[in-house]
Amino acid sequence: MLAIDAIGVTKVYRSASQPAIKDISLRVEAGKIFTLLGRNGAGKTTFVRMCATQLLPTSGTISVLGYDAVRQAKHVRDLISIVPQEGRPLRALTPWDHVYNWLQIRGDSKSAARDKTEVMLRKLEIYGARDSPAMNLSGGMKQKILVAMAMATDAQLLFLDEPTIGLDPVSRRQVWTAIKDWKSKGGSILLTTHYMDEAEMLSDYIVIIDKGMIIAQGTIQELRKVIPQNIRVDIARDTLDVDTLKSYGSVVDTGAGMLRIFTFESAVRELSDLALRHNLSFTVSSVTLDDVFVYIMGNGIIDDQNARD
Ligand SMILES: Nc1ncnc2c1ncn2[C@@H]1O[C@H](COP(=O)(O)OP(=O)(O)OP(=O)(O)O)[C@@H](O)[C@H]1O
Ligand SMILES: [Mg+2]
Repeated sequence: MLAIDAIGVTKVYRSASQPAIKDISLRVEAGKIFTLLGRNGAGKTTFVRMCATQLLPTSGTISVLGYDAVRQAKHVRDLISIVPQEGRPLRALTPWDHVYNWLQIRGDSKSAARDKTEVMLRKLEIYGARDSPAMNLSGGMKQKILVAMAMATDAQLLFLDEPTIGLDPVSRRQVWTAIKDWKSKGGSILLTTHYMDEAEMLSDYIVIIDKGMIIAQGTIQELRKVIPQNIRVDIARDTLDVDTLKSYGSVVDTGAGMLRIFTFESAVRELSDLALRHNLSFTVSSVTLDDVFVYIMGNGIIDDQNARD
């Protein structure tokens, strides 16, 4: 069963000259966390909103849980739930009202709605503020209301468009736990995020889009292979000769006074000796999704010949 089956989808906004989404085809397996990554303006929200029946595609077809997202939008809406990117709770309503009323609108009995509301507000740690009007809550708390509304439902497919934006590190983990719980109950998720650690931790499958087109996709393990080397060494830039470092692999300027060398285990000893000789700090770790994303986008690479040949 596919949660989403998009075939040849294009979206051209009326006021735009370029398509926001160009002929995208992708299949989202049910029961999985599927993540869309891409730079600002890549088309992630546009794609999510078309799948969530909030926006009509210009061409192509989107099937959501077996229903056509245009012709059978009502069926689709009954089965999905969404945290929109630019959503705001209603100022005068409390977290409790938002979640409880929403569950009732979706057809839950009063007692079921009460139970689910309490569980979700506690899970996201906003139960203590359950009776405060949203206008008196912080930005992160407001965001949590939107997450709670979407995640308290029994929908089969959840759209999360940057769900942890503005949340502190502890709150982000609470949302991650809720996301994992959702999946463990058999639910499907289409996630967008700019936090690579979040994508790395949660995603079963990742699609990277750029200018409305898919430019890379795969599991984390598959995407890591985009960078031929598997180790990264960060060395304080200082007086080091970049050409010397290039002989060990691809060199990237992290922009924070550090040079990052993508290399292999065999070169780690030599690089650490080099750093120690120059009395420079260095760290060694595996290549991350963050590296892959920046690499694919082609930013910061001082000389990518080694990497791309
Ligand atoms: N209502 C609209 N009318 C015209 N153009 C739009 C509209 N909404 C989005 N766009 C354009 O469509 C493109 C894709 O935007 P979209 O919001 O889908 O990107 P995104 O990947 O979600 O970006 P971000 O990471 O910043 O949220 C952008 O060029 C944007 O300017
Ligand atoms: Mg967006």
